[in-house]
Amino acid sequence: MPDPILAPFPATRLRRLRRTPALRALTTETNLTAGNLIWPIFVTEIAGGEGEIPSMPGVQRLTLDGAKRAAETAMRLNIPALCIFPHSDPDQKTEGCERAWDPENIGNRAIRAIKEVAPDLAVMTDIALDPYNANGHDGLVRDGVILNDETVEALVRMALVQAEAGADILGPSDMMDGRIGALRGALESHGRKDVAILSYAAKYASGFYGPFRDAVGASGRLVGDKKTYQMNPANREEALRCVARDLAEGADMVMVKPGMPYLDICREVKDRFAAPTYAYQVSGEYAMLEGAIRNGWLGRGVVLESLIAFRRAGCDGILTYYAPEIAEMLA
Ligand code: PBG
Repeated sequence: MPDPILAPFPATRLRRLRRTPALRALTTETNLTAGNLIWPIFVTEIAGGEGEIPSMPGVQRLTLDGAKRAAETAMRLNIPALCIFPHSDPDQKTEGCERAWDPENIGNRAIRAIKEVAPDLAVMTDIALDPYNANGHDGLVRDGVILNDETVEALVRMALVQAEAGADILGPSDMMDGRIGALRGALESHGRKDVAILSYAAKYASGFYGPFRDAVGASGRLVGDKKTYQMNPANREEALRCVARDLAEGADMVMVKPGMPYLDICREVKDRFAAPTYAYQVSGEYAMLEGAIRNGWLGRGVVLESLIAFRRAGCDGILTYYAPEIAEMLA
């Protein structure tokens, strides 16, 4: 970026261009449209599992019919993509995670249900074993160790079934090594060359995922933590290596997660790699904003401000639970 040339005061008065709404509109550097949003939804297969998530006030777990209605809402509001997270039957979670590649699991049923009512909407999925894992981990566990290569094989099975069900964008959120190359290779060799991969490339081991784990019913299960596969929040260079590696293995798009505490990483990833870059404004960020807003401690304007911040930091798009509210506001 060139250095700005500023005449000395009073020739330069930066307030001149802030004086009126018209002048501020003309000098706005970043914008946000509904087209920048990916809306994550929770879909339950448990009878009576639908309803508001206590730690995410305003966010509902949906039935399949609810997911279809969300798809129609997304279409009406010009939100280009939904991302599906399954709330699965606890009795069917196993150590082998076999349900993850069952074409009839709730995630795959949701893909098909959404495609029925909104074929033009992009459907994104999550690739990780946690919704179907008795241990709550994203990978297979043996003797307390998260297995890398065995997990990657399981993820490939899961991905092919999701692609078959109609997913447009696969979102590997598991942080195993080698998964992007394995997924890309399997998609190519199984006639799914047009399915895109949005890699959760720089995913940190974060406390901000707490409400999400409540939402998908994983909170009580997780034995230990995810620090042997998710990244250390102190690391920046490692994030760049993760992104470089995933792009080199065939990721079409990359993500930084969580979002707001990691905007420096977003900016650096965008500048270094010039690839389609996304951030996930995660459940804990939502809970923080929404909790403060509902208590009257913050005004609702912080929601838009938080999303503009992602755009300013270089993100092409944002996964956010605020997608429908903001798209409605922008419409
Ligand atoms: C799990 C997954 C998580 C999120 C998305 N996919 C949780 C985790 O890694 O424990 C978090 C999303 C959020 O907090 O909103 N594979």
